[in-house]
Amino acid sequence: MNQINVRLQTTESKHYKILIGYNILETIAKNIRDAQIAGHYIIIADDCVARLYGSKLTRALCDLDLNAHLIDFPAGEKSKSFESVVRLSKMLIELGADRKSALIALGGGVTGDLAGFLASIYMRGIPVFQVPTTLMAQVDSSIGGKTGINLPGGKNLLGTFHQPEMVLTDIKFLETLPDNEYRNGLAEVVKYGVIRGEPLFGKLEKGVGLIQDRNSSFLDEIITASCRIKADIVSQDDREKDLRRILNFGHTIGHALEAISGYTISHGACVSLGMIGAARLSERLYGMDPEEGNRIEELLNVLGLKNRIASEVSTNDILSALRRDKKKEGDNINFVMLRKIGQPFVVGGLDDQVIRETIDDLRG
Ligand SMILES: NC(=O)c1ccc[n+]([C@@H]2O[C@H](COP(=O)([O-])OP(=O)(O)OC[C@H]3O[C@@H](n4cnc5c(N)ncnc54)[C@H](O)[C@@H]3O)[C@@H](O)[C@H]2O)c1
Repeated sequence: MNQINVRLQTTESKHYKILIGYNILETIAKNIRDAQIAGHYIIIADDCVARLYGSKLTRALCDLDLNAHLIDFPAGEKSKSFESVVRLSKMLIELGADRKSALIALGGGVTGDLAGFLASIYMRGIPVFQVPTTLMAQVDSSIGGKTGINLPGGKNLLGTFHQPEMVLTDIKFLETLPDNEYRNGLAEVVKYGVIRGEPLFGKLEKGVGLIQDRNSSFLDEIITASCRIKADIVSQDDREKDLRRILNFGHTIGHALEAISGYTISHGACVSLGMIGAARLSERLYGMDPEEGNRIEELLNVLGLKNRIASEVSTNDILSALRRDKKKEGDNINFVMLRKIGQPFVVGGLDDQVIRETIDDLRG
């Protein structure tokens, strides 16, 4: 089992651990008990994860004489809504949850964001444990304390920072994860490889077969490496002021593509295209060796991630969506560029014409 300590050095001085292992459901329950921070635990899961793992975790907690309940909500991004927050709050009240209760977010990023948000406001804030079950959540959304729900005007427009008490990751959960969800997470793992460079990037290139087979010990290595990178970055910049922005590598064009597809193209596919776009922009504008971009594109390609933008998606629509991005500052759209793999930097104010040409080069 691997342990990573997240030590926030900025606005909060909170410390928490990320525990990563294979087939560790009982260890997860013991760690929650040993934290001794609540008298009542409410597991929140979407209906799919609740069916697969909800009663197993509830039983593991009850076997340790803890008072534990499970509540669920319909799976999917639509549930990251104000209505869900109100509905789940009512269920918490019915269960008698009070300031001595803690939530356990069991699931993917939707559950982590929704339960994290609810925990941050329920009775002015109660603790939350993150137990991520998708690869995306295991390497990304469960770490760092960002929570959020969507509004009709856009994704994650209401949110808080609420750091978890612990992040408890069982790699065995990934055995039931559908392929498309697995690929979404792989896009984030490749992102860590690109922003941090070696040894992770080379390990991913050499380990494609093991990744495709979901080899648990290889997954353990690359998930742990990814979590270390995210933990390292968020410890230094917990409020996304500066350093944390490099975690958005590939996400600027990626988010634009997601938004204009009405979220019908998967997050992983969009981030994959965004990473290739960012690499090609880095070649045009900052002289990165094209061989670096080729390595990134080849790795994404062999992992089954998208590398070509469909002809029906117009370049003008992508540029308009970039201008609406909630992470832009004034008229400045921030892009994460590369000098080479492992050397990212943030720039603003790229010329539209260069973005346009780069996007057009990404067509099949
Ligand atoms: N807070 C952050 O820092 C942060 C970072 C990145 C993404 N996000 C958010 O994460 C969300 C996406 O998360 P996601 O990709 O994990 O999607 P998700 O939570 O919707 O999970 C995807 C699907 O997989 C199912 N599932 C989950 N675990 C499973 C398992 N082990 N076996 C079988 N099925 C399983 C779920 O029921 C769901 O249908 C988005 O809302 C995004 O905004 C948040």
